[in-house]
Amino acid sequence: MAIIMFDFRPGPEVSTAERWQQLTEAADALTQGERDPVANMANVAALLWEFLPDLNWAGFYRMIAEGDARELVLGPFIGRPACIRIALGRGVCGTAAQSGETQLVEDVHQFPGHIPCDAASRSELVVPVLRGGAVIAVIDLDSPLPARFDDEDAKGLKRLAELLSARI
Ligand code: SME
Repeated sequence: MAIIMFDFRPGPEVSTAERWQQLTEAADALTQGERDPVANMANVAALLWEFLPDLNWAGFYRMIAEGDARELVLGPFIGRPACIRIALGRGVCGTAAQSGETQLVEDVHQFPGHIPCDAASRSELVVPVLRGGAVIAVIDLDSPLPARFDDEDAKGLKRLAELLSARI
């Protein structure tokens, strides 16, 4: 059996825009032609973790429908064990899922209803993954640093979410 190794982790000199560019290319290469959504989400969670410094959680929540009810359910991630089900509109993830809008939170302690999965988290970026106009998942990044994420990160994560729309 062939052994395939990936070693990414760009150095500290790499700009945020370049980091997201490289991450997106790696995600494209790893998920292209693979039809298993769990495998793709797992690899992308690992890539986010490898490429982005100062994270304490990176991963997915999926929109799950049971009858008429919809809620977010935990998907592949790296980090501490997390809250499994999140109601739409609740916390940062539930707000992104309900509104379909990116949530860039500089201080999670100031976000009404924030769900603290890891007490170390101080800032958070959540981007919805849309397919045909509907939210099918959200990608969540957490950091122990206040104001860790900026507009460049939001732009990069949105582009990644677009790429993954048909692959998860
Ligand atoms: N803090 C999130 C919950 C998910 S965890 O951070 C992994 C929120 O408020 O939605």
